[in-house]
Amino acid sequence: MSKSRDFLGPYRLARLIRVGSTAEVWEAIEENSQERFALKVLKESLKANREEINLLKHEYTVAKDLASPRIIKVVEYREDSRPMLVLELFSELNMKQALRTGPESLAFMLDKIVEQSAEGLYYMHTKNWIHLDVKPDNFLVSREGVVKLIDFTISEKKKTGLGRMFHRVKLAKGTRSYMAPEQIRRKVCDERTDIYSFGCVLYELATGKVPYTGDTPNDLLNKHLSASVPSPIVHNDNVTREFADLVKSMMAKRPDDRPPSMWEFLKVFRGVEIFKKRPRAPEVSVFDNNSSIRAPDDMIRKGGPIDDQE
Ligand SMILES: Nc1ncnc2c1ncn2[C@@H]1O[C@H](COP(=O)(O)OP(=O)(O)O)[C@@H](O)[C@H]1O
Ligand SMILES: [Mg+2]
Repeated sequence: MSKSRDFLGPYRLARLIRVGSTAEVWEAIEENSQERFALKVLKESLKANREEINLLKHEYTVAKDLASPRIIKVVEYREDSRPMLVLELFSELNMKQALRTGPESLAFMLDKIVEQSAEGLYYMHTKNWIHLDVKPDNFLVSREGVVKLIDFTISEKKKTGLGRMFHRVKLAKGTRSYMAPEQIRRKVCDERTDIYSFGCVLYELATGKVPYTGDTPNDLLNKHLSASVPSPIVHNDNVTREFADLVKSMMAKRPDDRPPSMWEFLKVFRGVEIFKKRPRAPEVSVFDNNSSIRAPDDMIRKGGPIDDQE
């Protein structure tokens, strides 16, 4: 491979972490400092796509406003041979991948994971940003249960006053399994929209199952709009009544019936046990077969890309 293909600006590509629908995520080393970063690079076929470039720039605008240990840091936006974001490198394992091996992969440290995820969202909301794509794929988790929120592609500034009145209907965006009714209906969204989606995430973390499934995309959306809110206890009877009630309240159809803020959520959550009996750590850790960050002398490109888009 030629030198130019191995580099984007000063960043030497070390390993492909993941290929999504629009971007590749690479582990890379900055030549001068020898520091390691994650690069979110637009796919070759989209490198001149205005819309995708703008989304990436938008993600930079959002992320540079956020400085919290619970949120992935963004270093810069660059256009070398391809548009890209330079990000702090962290555990590449997202919650969805962990859940795929079963909820027990995280259950033994779920209180920490939930608290950390909630703190990331809380912080984002204090900066008046709404994430709008809260789902397990967009939280990175480390072996120690440290969580960082990622992917601000469709995040928006919270609308207040006149902004709420003159809200323009945009394309409904989000991920169907986790979308709040007001997001589906393209109404004004606020932090309670993220609280709904986060409720769906908690449901899945506690049970290994998404709260609603449908035979068709529309069927699924309709369930978010009108099906009765399921209890996580149905799929896991080790979940406490208090936690189940909290999750159900987050998934209320009307924003007014949900906890009003992540602060309120955290206050209640800190006084509640998730499980009746504390789950044990599985014998084989999900962090062992899903190699997290490798040693510097192990920087050869291995295996193919993992594409686990919905
Ligand atoms: N900073 C990072 N460090 C390590 N892995 C990351 C990082 N950012 C993203 N990833 C990996 O790449 C995946 C896709 O990133 P994301 O920003 O969500 O892109 P997309 O817009 O394609 O969903 C994540 O789920 C994670 O596995
Ligand atoms: Mg994502």
